[in-house]
Amino acid sequence: MKYGTRMGNAAKARNQCSIVGIFDNGQLTPSAKQIDEESKGYLRKILKRGDFKGKANQIMVLHDVPGTTATRVMLVGLGNPETMDAARFATAAKAAIGRLKTLSAKTILCCLTDVDVPGRDVAWRTTRLVEIFGGGLYRFTEFKGKPPENGNEIEVIDFHAADKAEQELVDAAVSSTVALVTGITVAKDLGNTPGNVCTPTFLADKAKEIASTYRSITTKVIEEKEMEKLGMGAFLSVSRGSLQPGKLIVMTHKGGKAKDAPHVLVGKGITFDTGGISLKPGAGMHEMIYDMCGAASVFGAMVAVAGQNLPINVIGVVAAAENMPSGDASRPGDIVKTMSGQTVEILNTDAEGRLVLCDALTYVDKFNPSTVVDIATLTGACIIALGAHATALYANDDALASALLNAGEETLDRAWRMPLWEDYQAQLNSAFADMANIGGREAGSITAACFLARYAKKYRWAHLDVAGTAFKGSGPTKGSTGRPVSLLVQYLKDQASNAPKGRNSAKA
Ligand code: BES
Ligand code: MN
Ligand code: ZN
Repeated sequence: MKYGTRMGNAAKARNQCSIVGIFDNGQLTPSAKQIDEESKGYLRKILKRGDFKGKANQIMVLHDVPGTTATRVMLVGLGNPETMDAARFATAAKAAIGRLKTLSAKTILCCLTDVDVPGRDVAWRTTRLVEIFGGGLYRFTEFKGKPPENGNEIEVIDFHAADKAEQELVDAAVSSTVALVTGITVAKDLGNTPGNVCTPTFLADKAKEIASTYRSITTKVIEEKEMEKLGMGAFLSVSRGSLQPGKLIVMTHKGGKAKDAPHVLVGKGITFDTGGISLKPGAGMHEMIYDMCGAASVFGAMVAVAGQNLPINVIGVVAAAENMPSGDASRPGDIVKTMSGQTVEILNTDAEGRLVLCDALTYVDKFNPSTVVDIATLTGACIIALGAHATALYANDDALASALLNAGEETLDRAWRMPLWEDYQAQLNSAFADMANIGGREAGSITAACFLARYAKKYRWAHLDVAGTAFKGSGPTKGSTGRPVSLLVQYLKDQASNAPKGRNSAKA
């Protein structure tokens, strides 16, 4: 599959399907107008008949439209032009790619780049289209006995530009978004890979593979023995119940100057979360293969950042372990010492994410980070609070919080800020240790964030609880969503353009 751009009259493209938008008041987008003119009013005639009204997400596929060289023209309803917005544009694009997959067209021209969306320019529209089309074409077939029938056979998708000046913008957006889609695909594949295959060692190997693919990336894996020396008692209390050794994986993208403080991403990489001795109920436990989606998003972001050659330094750290019950597993009531020196009373072994993350957060202080963002499927309570639409955002720095919120709005991969107030900290009080690893039934996502905040005091830090957004546990669209790779990459891109200049030469 290749993505490209195409300039010129939309009616003159020799492809197997051209996709154009039409509003519900009969207003044609510029490319639809071109096709209508070349076909002597064919589209208007269809509209008049009334079957296709341009209602939001309505689709009609026409064959052999007179005066056009494409074999098919797909009309995509855009709804009311007065109320057009980013969300509606995205759902229209999803409807288009959904229908496209049912056709046997191999060469596509997408003209939705010319849809007027208030406040969003052609670069934004192209970026979202490539991301949505790329996401829509994703399939996870690695574990099927034989490749499934009716796999889509699309070979080329070109995005339409009105003129030379626009083509440059469309072209740049396509190529950087192809790198983003590659990263999102990496995140989805890792998320969907089952726990018997995707172990901490598997993730460490994946990091090495990425380092050998991208010249800007190097990697280092910290083994349990070294973690012992570093005093990572909390991390090791989680991995000890499993036959799979835990790994702390460090990936470095050098795009900035050597002395530029890095942006650090830290991912929760629990490759399977049984709950440990505080065993989870059986129903739905299989969803815990997704408990490494935070880590998967770090891998995805690193791949995208390297693919886009961002001129900043980024360090991705993955805390990878399996949470298992066994004769050597941690018991509820155990007290462990973290790398920070603070002690933790483990009242529930199922609150393991914060235990691996707290030591990783202490570890990353050695990089003198500019910012640290951790990403974790941390709490079921987060899903109760925000559902599947928004990622929960916590931060000890307002500028960092708004940078992340803005990146979410830009990419439609949205986050919503939650409080990190001191008032909640008391819920973590422990009789015998410096803190407990759970804070009771109330405000579970917040108290988990409060726990992490105690290990992130030395730098600007944010925490993204992606328990509700990183995957869909069941249903026809089951699987990893790739979130919040898009948010993270946008955030890093914004940091790169704000950073003092010092562009690196083209690499990889
Ligand atoms: N991985 C889970 C959180 C989770 C639940 C993610 C459902 C995605 C979907 C986490 O390790 C966990 O078990 N959290 C506990 C914390 C509790 C014991 C304080 C939870 O949310 O129930
Ligand atoms: Mn758990
Ligand atoms: Zn977990």
